[in-house]
Amino acid sequence: MKILTKKSGLRGTLTVPGDKSISHRAIMFGALAEGTTTVHGFLKGADCLSTIDCFRRMGISIEEIDDTIYVHGKGLHGLSESISILDVGNSGTTTRLISGILAGQTFSSVLSGDASLNTRPMKRIMTPLSMMGADIESCKGNGCAPLVIKGKPLKAIHYNSPVASAQVKSCVLLAGLYADGETSVTEPALSRDHTERMLRSFGADIRSEGCTCTISPPETLHAQHIEVPGDISSAAFFIVAGLITPDSEIRIQNVGINPTRAGILNVCQAMGADITLENKREEGGEPVADLLVRSSQLIGTVIQGDIIPTLIDELPVIALMACFAKGETIIRDAHELRVKESDRIEIVSRNLQAMGADVIPTDDGFIINSTFGKEQIPALHGADIECSLDHRIAMTFSVAGINASGETRILDSDCVDVSYPGFFGEIGKLYK
Ligand code: S3P
Repeated sequence: MKILTKKSGLRGTLTVPGDKSISHRAIMFGALAEGTTTVHGFLKGADCLSTIDCFRRMGISIEEIDDTIYVHGKGLHGLSESISILDVGNSGTTTRLISGILAGQTFSSVLSGDASLNTRPMKRIMTPLSMMGADIESCKGNGCAPLVIKGKPLKAIHYNSPVASAQVKSCVLLAGLYADGETSVTEPALSRDHTERMLRSFGADIRSEGCTCTISPPETLHAQHIEVPGDISSAAFFIVAGLITPDSEIRIQNVGINPTRAGILNVCQAMGADITLENKREEGGEPVADLLVRSSQLIGTVIQGDIIPTLIDELPVIALMACFAKGETIIRDAHELRVKESDRIEIVSRNLQAMGADVIPTDDGFIINSTFGKEQIPALHGADIECSLDHRIAMTFSVAGINASGETRILDSDCVDVSYPGFFGEIGKLYK
């Protein structure tokens, strides 16, 4: 449990841990490449460690020396059958991406995770993989993990995905590495494109046009050096902390600002936030910048449509930010929040309401009115916060806690380790 109390004047410069999505992919693609892939800035959060563990169990040697991860790839056909279940922990990305790879192997695998993971929908990958000829089954027949995957020769398909999901897109593209021709995926809106960028750098023939991406099965992938930028999804907690906590100025260094991930910056701009992007550059095929964030008087906005996949993981903390904005904020088209590590529409609303916020959950989002009282002072109060094994809930409500009267107690706070070990130490430094 962690206890947070009201603060003002957050000051400091920090570097957030490496991007979770990119860290997972660096291990996976490194394992399938010929030669040794080196990864710098890898996120040593529980989710990415689950990915490392799964590939080690399939015979890949992965070492850490002086903060660099060495993945000794064995090529596209070099994985071997694990003698034990592949434990994917809390990680949806591990589960869905690895399933695409496992579907095309010559051996069988069983994947299982924690209580949260094993209730998340896997039909979204079972459907396209089955269309490719894969043999994938949900052990309990409920469309969730544990999953049994018996490797099979795969057929190339064109898949029209009903959801804008990078995990679904990546799963199909990775199965496409093993298919008998060109595999393509069309999604309703563009989701994060790290798979496309990174597979291309490993030498795959992968093309994108609008919301369609096509891959031809390569002969080989070639080992790379990957520089992992800071995770904008982790930076988001400090962006919002800096904006809503009075008299604050925070510099967040080396943040990935890939346009398929950086929707929160557009929303902040629309809400009148004072954020300066400094030192914009490109590192390892991904755009990066330092963000200077200052306390701002925010105004409400409407967040909907194609921007949603570019800020999907940030919506819990954006909902909190909206409580500190004048007027109304409406978030729509975010159904996907219901099937994340928790039902984030339900859990965010319930916890914000417990702190006194004016939040109405809707089927696909929230309607949020500011908490400004008569004196124009935001009026959240402390509460006990249940996180339901969801790291982003724990971090969102820690930021809420330093902007609320009384004590905010984050009950199952250890779940922050999934994506941000050291989060509480880092936030504490800003008000020491
Ligand atoms: C991820 C994609 C997103 C995101 C998740 C990481 C990825 O999920 O929410 O945290 O690394 O591909 P969906 O693809 O289900 O939207």
